[in-house]
Amino acid sequence: MQTAQPIGVIDSGVGGLTVLKWLQAKMPHENFIFIGDTARTPYGNRSREEITRFVADMTAWLNKRNIKQLVVACNTITVLGTDTIRGSYPFDVIGMAKGSRMVPLVTKNNRVGFFATDFTVSTGAHKREIQKLCPQIQVFGQGCPKFVPLIEGERFGSPELKAAIHEYAEKLKAHHVDTVLLSCTHYPFVRKEIEDEFGPSVTVLDPAERTAQDALESLQKRHLALTTGIGRAEVCFTADLERGKRLAARMLDLNKCDFRLIDLKKDPGLPGDISPLKSQAQGILGNQTV
Ligand code: DGL
Repeated sequence: MQTAQPIGVIDSGVGGLTVLKWLQAKMPHENFIFIGDTARTPYGNRSREEITRFVADMTAWLNKRNIKQLVVACNTITVLGTDTIRGSYPFDVIGMAKGSRMVPLVTKNNRVGFFATDFTVSTGAHKREIQKLCPQIQVFGQGCPKFVPLIEGERFGSPELKAAIHEYAEKLKAHHVDTVLLSCTHYPFVRKEIEDEFGPSVTVLDPAERTAQDALESLQKRHLALTTGIGRAEVCFTADLERGKRLAARMLDLNKCDFRLIDLKKDPGLPGDISPLKSQAQGILGNQTV
């Protein structure tokens, strides 16, 4: 493994961009290859078999691009089990943080809720992990199947989105939670609206920063972290490139991104549009090996 190899980041769609934002902030020297599987989003109401097949397509594609680490910027894929991915590839696999280290620092009444896809809630993974560390905390999961299609469809500020936020928040309010985790990476796109709906007595947490920190620490432990140069992100979508770019503009610094429409069944090749900045960064970083 070489430090100059890129880091792969995957999600079912644009949600993973909310994690890529934190990854770029914590690891400004690294190069990232992001895949949002916008052709097949959402994953959250699909079967385990289907999701497993889609993930295999993305990881095989990224493996051909010689990544040194994979960040699973998707809770639905994370709860499916990152061990299966980890076992078959040489790179390190980091899943989304489930909040067990964050919520004990925030909750005062030990009643915590989380918003996630139906698939994620059905596995009970978040509840199990939080209660393993803090058995006194009661955890309430709320599936939010309307959110991903509305966010992917750029329906920000629409009456449908407001109604969906109200509907799901009411369910958690009934449990008197004082902390709510956004356990689907799409939801930080509407974090402000969710916070407004709950009001100041509830703290809304996004586990993306913790996940990015986990990714950085894992690279440092393996002596694979880059410490110089300016990193870039190759942002790939499997459909709707223009929509992907518009949504990325809400999260990322576009000056540090190159966009690409990809076909997961075809050989990844290399991006056509390597900018001078990227060539320069590769020149600086290319010799660092371990
Ligand atoms: N962004 C994803 C997550 O964190 C998946 C959303 C979906 O495709 O349903 O769970």
